[in-house]
Amino acid sequence: MAFCSALLNGRFCSSRLSPLISERSLATSHHAAWYKESLEHPEEFWGRLARERLRWMKPFTNVMDCSLKDGHFRWFEGGKLNMSDNCLDRIVEKDPDRLALIWEKDEPGQQEYITYQELKNLTCRVANTLKSQGVKKGDVVAIYMPVSLEAAAVMLACTRIGAVHSVVFAGFSPTALKNRILDASAETVITTDEGVRGGKTIPLKQTVDAAVSDCPCVKRVLVATRTGADVAMKDGRDYKLDELMKGESPECPPEPMDSEDPLFMLYTSGSTGKPKGILHAHAGYMLYSGLTQQYVFDYKVGDIFACVADIGWITGHSHALYGPLINGGTSVLFESLPIYPDPGRYWEMVQRLKVTQIYLAPTSLRLLLKAGDSYVKKYDRSTLRTLGCVGEPLNDEAWRWYHKVVGEERCTVVDTWWQTETGGIMIAPRPSSSDSTPKAGYPMSPFFGIDPVLLDNNGKEITGNDVSGNLCIRNPWPSIARTIYGDHEKFLNTYFTNYPGYYFTGDGAYRDKDGHYKITGRIDDVINVKGHRIGTAEIESALDHDSRVAESAVVGYPHEIFGEGIYAYVILKDGVTDNEDDIKKDLVQLVKSQIGSFAAPQFILITPGLPKTRSGKIMRRILRKISANETEELGDITTLADPSVVETILTKHDSTT
Ligand code: PRX
Repeated sequence: MAFCSALLNGRFCSSRLSPLISERSLATSHHAAWYKESLEHPEEFWGRLARERLRWMKPFTNVMDCSLKDGHFRWFEGGKLNMSDNCLDRIVEKDPDRLALIWEKDEPGQQEYITYQELKNLTCRVANTLKSQGVKKGDVVAIYMPVSLEAAAVMLACTRIGAVHSVVFAGFSPTALKNRILDASAETVITTDEGVRGGKTIPLKQTVDAAVSDCPCVKRVLVATRTGADVAMKDGRDYKLDELMKGESPECPPEPMDSEDPLFMLYTSGSTGKPKGILHAHAGYMLYSGLTQQYVFDYKVGDIFACVADIGWITGHSHALYGPLINGGTSVLFESLPIYPDPGRYWEMVQRLKVTQIYLAPTSLRLLLKAGDSYVKKYDRSTLRTLGCVGEPLNDEAWRWYHKVVGEERCTVVDTWWQTETGGIMIAPRPSSSDSTPKAGYPMSPFFGIDPVLLDNNGKEITGNDVSGNLCIRNPWPSIARTIYGDHEKFLNTYFTNYPGYYFTGDGAYRDKDGHYKITGRIDDVINVKGHRIGTAEIESALDHDSRVAESAVVGYPHEIFGEGIYAYVILKDGVTDNEDDIKKDLVQLVKSQIGSFAAPQFILITPGLPKTRSGKIMRRILRKISANETEELGDITTLADPSVVETILTKHDSTT
């Protein structure tokens, strides 16, 4: 496929490009006024922004009909619009040759460019292909593709015809993919022949074959080409995307979608063993992701924005694709790894592509920090203005390194807190606290329209400053998830029942003396490994698949690079005499095949028992302390059914770590 090289002839960087957005200018001093208005008059605030920022096929009649108490959210009802029309056609009509995406390929120094016109043509051809294959509005399309221009076009094509995409991170195992396809009853799966990462090929089509062999709902598998490898194709089910697209027209009218029609679903982990298909709706997500993109990152047309997250996560959805395109911007899609071919990869890319904002995960920063400053300093980073991060707490040391070494104390560090469920950034240094200097390790202040509160375990609001509590949100916002696919009851129970009238985030937070927020971590059984969110119950149910395992308990522990590491305590069935090291190796393999490599435990401890209360509840608090080597502070263990088990675990822990 030949893509233009608009960047190379300099046209893209010209200042003649003007923003498409015609809203009132937002000077720094207006931030506070906007924030106040957004909370006091949400209907006027969001209604105005939705009218000004989005292109409607039919205007909406009602701005909001929401109840946090009932977990009921409807925004911009009566309106019709389309995501791909807003992301593509709107820009093509004014500036077709504007650069839309730059695909930073795994191969060092290699990139491909695509303009808005080219991306629209590609999207329409994919959309027409999907239609020819029988995909209809409302159908779920599972996408198992690494970051690429085609993957972006496939996502946009789904939105163009009103199909609901469900992108599954291409690092998930066949079993994890299968479960997600089955949960959504997806008839269509789109994948790539092979992925390429860190110089290695990954057999994606093979993974899909293994997954769909147990999915009777799947009628077709479309295969995009990355390496051209000779992959097995099943007659009547598998088709090469390139070949199907050959005869298709580059014109496909965007389907008028109701504001509340489902846009996409994305699976994420919770405290139960089963991942949840978080469903987002068209208009609210579109408005909020575009708004946060612009204001949190100080994003201007002409910028080159690089969100290095994979499209398989919400960050990739909102900030590698939709947020930048809604703003008519240029986004870098990053296929590689931060340390490939060496730890200078990001900064060499910044220099080569003249990146103005970079958005990454703290775990990568910690890894790069260890590699030393020279990998950063040898590249020109003068184009950078904003340094973003997301996914897990950013520790002080990494924050300071980002600010001082990477950003030369010139760039603003924006530590952004949000979730798959929130659809967009909720707490970040910009814009609401633009009058104060960002603090190390603090996402700082709520975005427009967001009213965070800290509650105690009884649901009582903790007022004042210099306090900690359970982080909840008091008011609805446009991009809040609408449901968990196929399980609205679970949606209500997970987010709205514990604290009636609030959205419960699952995170703890500290509010400092100035009223700024710092996230202290999950307060449920979810751990955050390398910025990937994973439920301990999910790993436990994977381990339990081994017939030798009687019971397991998984906890997170502080890990210097990963943020959190995974520690699994495993009890074997009576009579199992296999070598412990062999069992541990098998268990690691098992988790990799059930979930994916990123969920494999760093430590497995085989133990004859677990610390349980007399009613049989595992005291995870004790396991967490042992895993973190905080063995002096185990607290009261006399309430355990068998306190001696702790001593046994401690002895074994000390001898293995
Ligand atoms: O625990 C918080 C952590 O990541 C969780 C959300 O994970 P996920 O849905 O996968 O989305 C990640 C990307 C938006 C949160 O509940 N988290 C996210 N951002 C931060 C964070 N923890 C601390 N600081 C952050 N900036």
